[in-house]
Parts: sequence; structure tokens; C-alpha cells
Amino acid sequence: MSSPVVANNLPKRVHLEAGQAYFFCVCGRSANQPFCDGSHKETDLKPMKFTVQESGDFWLCCCKHTENRPFCDGHHNQFTPADVGQERPL
Ligand code: FES
Repeated sequence: MSSPVVANNLPKRVHLEAGQAYFFCVCGRSANQPFCDGSHKETDLKPMKFTVQESGDFWLCCCKHTENRPFCDGHHNQFTPADVGQERPL
């Protein structure tokens, strides 16, 4: 099983529109963080489709180790800048 890459050791604040479908990058290899760009094809990981109920700004996980996908839950605190770009097992 593939491990996610730590795309960043900080979350990213993004504006999301209610009812619109988004694809959250789970593999950490997308160049369009925190969203999927198709780079997961080299792995056995799949993006996560999601919507929000209300439009607004949200902090989305970029370390890929949150237990509350796609939202940041603080798990990025276990990573340093040296982990960014590296595979880290869940
Ligand atoms: S960026 Fe992943 S838990 Fe915060």
C-alpha cells in the first residue's frame, strides 16, 4: 500500500462553495494542493470527493495525515519542513 507524501506541514486556507463537488488530494503528490491533479495514478490511493453545506473559508489538510479528511485536525504538528515532499506512513 502506498504512503501519502507530506505535501506541506501546514494546512491551506481555501474558499469553498456550498454544494460544489471538490476532490481532496489524499496521496500528497498533487501540484494543486489541497486538491487532486491526477498524480495519484502512480499509487493505490484515490482522491476524496467532498462538498460543504455552507460557503466559506476552510483549512484543508496538506500533511495528508488528518483523521478528519479533508479538514486539518492538527496532525501536521508531528511534521517538520524536512518531512515535506517525503512519504510518511499513516
Ligand atoms: S495539515 Fe494535515 S492535519 Fe493539519
